[in-house]
Amino acid sequence: MLTYLTAGESHGPELSGILTGIPAGLHLDIDEINTALSARQGGYGRGNRQKIEHDQVIITGGVRHGVTLGSPIALTVKNRDHAQWSEIMNPTSPATPENTLRKVSRPRPGHADLVGGMKYGHRDMRNVLERSSARETAMRVAVGNICKQVLEALNIKIIGYVEAIGGVNADSSQPTQVDTIVNLIEQNDLRVTDQSQIEPIHEMIDDAKRNGDTLGGVIRVVAENVPAGLGSYVSWDTKLDAKLAAAVMGVNAMKGVEIGDGFENAVHPGSQVMDEIDWQEGQGFSRNSDHLGGFEGGMTNGMPVIVKAAMKPIPTLYKPLQSADINSKEVKKATVERSDTTAIVPASIVIESVVSIELAKAITDTFDGSNIDRLKKQIADYRQELQNF
Ligand SMILES: Cc1cc2nc3c(=O)[nH]c(=O)nc-3n(C[C@H](O)[C@H](O)[C@H](O)COP(=O)(O)O)c2cc1C
Repeated sequence: MLTYLTAGESHGPELSGILTGIPAGLHLDIDEINTALSARQGGYGRGNRQKIEHDQVIITGGVRHGVTLGSPIALTVKNRDHAQWSEIMNPTSPATPENTLRKVSRPRPGHADLVGGMKYGHRDMRNVLERSSARETAMRVAVGNICKQVLEALNIKIIGYVEAIGGVNADSSQPTQVDTIVNLIEQNDLRVTDQSQIEPIHEMIDDAKRNGDTLGGVIRVVAENVPAGLGSYVSWDTKLDAKLAAAVMGVNAMKGVEIGDGFENAVHPGSQVMDEIDWQEGQGFSRNSDHLGGFEGGMTNGMPVIVKAAMKPIPTLYKPLQSADINSKEVKKATVERSDTTAIVPASIVIESVVSIELAKAITDTFDGSNIDRLKKQIADYRQELQNF
């Protein structure tokens, strides 16, 4: 079973991950994982933390001479910033007045601080902040990129990018070809397809920063050449669109998920929404449009899988909102922790990663995922079978 777990605090020594269920025999491209990690650190509107970190993955299990063994893959990403926090975030040395400085007692509205403190009984909400921080998503990107490499071996392409920032749409063309999207988004530091929107968005982000404010946005993921029939209609918990929605909502700050034209579909009659079925000699069945984002009955239908995510603005504001001190109970401004103005660009890589994980999981749930060459053969045979259906 393909599954993963991450551990590690934002300013702790490192992030750790264990990923199981990756087929044996996959030639892992470590540079590709590191490229994804560095893409997660980039993008206009990020804070200074990214100048400190140079994320690189270290693999300590499950891979030999660059080839996966089928055993659990153990991963590490070091936190360079830990050097500044080595006393305060020391995992084992007993607490003293000196190493418990930088306590957090004024919770940030919109962050996990207050409720996390209440639930776990932390009087220093740094204990919450350190793990609820999106620093953890660096490990999800490393794990997700390994899954993306499984997809690539099966000729499935995937990309996550930015559709809109702070209410400005920069994706008027809504492409469904991954190569076209990659070509367009690589031309700018916002990961958007519409170059004409770059300057106004830069200005909007600069303005937000000057005002101590933050911005959210919309992310779009497209996966191409996904075979029909992943997931199942038979039970609620076998539906792959539902699993994708849960994985996307599991990413920090995501507050909405849409499959295909989800919300837009709700306002049109069925005749304008359903994707008409076509059949062609040598190609088999396809659809004339993709309003349903490649899903019918909780199963992929062979059209591009399209998933969108709505990200709320970053909760940490340099011009902080009202909070109340959990010790004195005085109403005061919230704590300020070093922060991004917008993290929509890195978040698009995180969303691409979690969608890659769910697709790789659906494939290895459906076919024998012990060995990559056997898996490739099964998928090729299955594609052939579908073509002749
Ligand atoms: C890539 C990424 C970077 C983020 N950076 C920050 C940040 O710098 N400051 C901040 O307050 N929140 C940041 N967030 C959002 C918080 O992690 C998130 O809002 C918080 O954990 C509370 O969870 P919730 O928004 O899902 O309720 C980031 C999220 C992502 C996906």
